Amino acid sequence: MPPLPLPIHTKRLVIRRFHDSDLCGLHELHSDVGVAAYLSRGVRHLEEVKQALTRRMAPADIERDGDGVILAVVVVATGHLIGEVSLWLRDARSGSAEVGFALVPAAQRQGYAREAMTALLALAFDVLGLQEVFGTADQRNVASMTLMRRLGMQEHEEDRDGAPLVAFSITRQDWQRQS
Ligand SMILES: CC(C)(COP(=O)(O)OP(=O)(O)OC[C@H]1O[C@@H](n2cnc3c(N)ncnc32)[C@H](O)[C@@H]1OP(=O)(O)O)[C@@H](O)C(=O)NCCC(=O)NCCS
Repeated sequence: MPPLPLPIHTKRLVIRRFHDSDLCGLHELHSDVGVAAYLSRGVRHLEEVKQALTRRMAPADIERDGDGVILAVVVVATGHLIGEVSLWLRDARSGSAEVGFALVPAAQRQGYAREAMTALLALAFDVLGLQEVFGTADQRNVASMTLMRRLGMQEHEEDRDGAPLVAFSITRQDWQRQS
C-alpha cells in the first residue's frame, strides 16, 4: 500500500505520528478511568504508557493482516495532544480494516472525534484504497455508537466472546456516496 501521507491537517486538528514529547499527553489519556471504561487495555500506569508510546513510535507498514497504526490527535490552536485514532488491517485480501478512537474527557463533545475519524476514513478509503472499515463498541458506550452512526457507519448486532458488542461498518461505496 502507499506510504501514509502524514501528518494530516483538518480544520482544527493535526493527526500525526507520536513523538517522545507525547509521553505526558499519552499518560493523561491512558490513565483516565472514564476513557478506559470501555477499552480492553484498562487504565495504564506510567511505565506501561512509556511502552505504549514506544510501540506507537515504531515504523508501521499497512501491508499484512494485523498491521496497523495509532496516530496522535493534536489541536492546532493549542498544540495539546487530545487523543489517538487507530487503523488496523484485518483482511488484506478483501481490504477490510478496523478503527479505534479515544479522546481525553476535556476534549470530548466538541466534534473533535468526528473530525479526526472523518480524516481517518478518508485515509483508509481514498488513499489506501480499502474496501470496508469497521469498528466495535460496547452497547453501553453511547458516545462511541453515536460517533460511528454520525460517520455513516451501519450497525450490526454482534456477540464476541460473550461481550455485548455492537459492530459498525462502512463500505468504500457508501463512503464515496456520502463524501
Ligand atoms: C467516543 C469518543 C471518542 C467520542 O468523542 P467526541 O469528541 O466526544 O465525539 P464528537 O464530539 O465528535 O461527537 C460525535 C457524536 O457523538 C455524540 N456524543 C459524543 N459523546 C456523547 C455522549 N457521551 N453521549 C451521547 N452522545 C455523545 C455527539 O453529540 C456527536 O453527535 P451529534 O453529531 O449528533 O452531535 C469519546 O467519548 C471517547 O474518547 N470515549 C472514551 C474512549 C472510547 O470509548 N473509545 C471508543 C471505544 S469503542
